[in-house]
Amino acid sequence: MSRPRVILDVDPGHDDAVALMMACGAEQREELELLGVTTVAGNATLEKTTRNALRVLSLAGRPDVPVAAGAAAPLVRPLHTAEDIHGESGLDGPEIPEAVSGRDERAAVAFMADALREAPGPVTLVPTGPLTNVAAFLRSHPGLKKKISHVSLMGGSVGLGNTTPAAEFNIYVDPEAARQVFESGLPVTMSGLDVTHQAGAGTAERERLRALGEVGETVAGFLDFFAETYESVFGFDAPPLHDPVALAAVLEPELVEVRSMRVDVECESTLTRGETVCDLYGVTGKPANAEVALKLDREGFFELLYRTLEGLRG
Ligand code: RIB
Ligand code: CA
Repeated sequence: MSRPRVILDVDPGHDDAVALMMACGAEQREELELLGVTTVAGNATLEKTTRNALRVLSLAGRPDVPVAAGAAAPLVRPLHTAEDIHGESGLDGPEIPEAVSGRDERAAVAFMADALREAPGPVTLVPTGPLTNVAAFLRSHPGLKKKISHVSLMGGSVGLGNTTPAAEFNIYVDPEAARQVFESGLPVTMSGLDVTHQAGAGTAERERLRALGEVGETVAGFLDFFAETYESVFGFDAPPLHDPVALAAVLEPELVEVRSMRVDVECESTLTRGETVCDLYGVTGKPANAEVALKLDREGFFELLYRTLEGLRG
């Protein structure tokens, strides 16, 4: 089977940073073709998430990967960021050098349009932040929707949220964008908190990462910071690698157990705005619009992570 062509849409963010490096490593192993990266405001402001994406790609030895900046705010709401989890820079923890390359002169939506027009075949979108860029793209380039074969997103949850009791962060920040993506008719795989909380990077996993060399050391250092904030905010004993799960679902789909179901996004309620209302038992009678990941092959996931990162040079 030909390797997937992928655009990552990110808001780095510690777990986005790991997903970016995983994508670079997977491309080096010819397991995917990384067409480019688009950035969105979310964990931090757009300026910070774009700076972080550029720095991480330079660190991974891939300053050639195009990075196009997208939305600085959600479609209709004010931006909500997550300094309590990711720090002031959006990627606090070990100091890493400034990027050796600059961002693409195109905005994210224009980059997505060019990449889809030029791709000789279907493209997979892997959004790991608020879905503002993806919704804006679908609205402005409906004719290119046919070039998108799959959207593997990190967001939502069948159960509780992490930003409010009802809503997961990526969906909470821009519920209107998320609703447009879930109602787009595109094949969506949703890796929500139910599955990503199974991907906690504990001390054992971080020791394995440190043993991988310079890049692994840096990733482990980022995860040490992420572990501290996840422990202080949520009382978790290991920080979940949310975003890498959405990419793993593309690289090795058998790592996640999914169930087809209807997912609707609450946009009106002040109490539950951003909730992904997942019809697990089909009680609404509405047609399914997403494959929702419920179970992770945790061992296989981490082996994939180590395999993709170990080849990256610092
Ligand atoms: O809720 C977790 C998600 O929100 C992750 O993508 C994290 O990076 C933040 O964007
Ligand atoms: Ca993210």
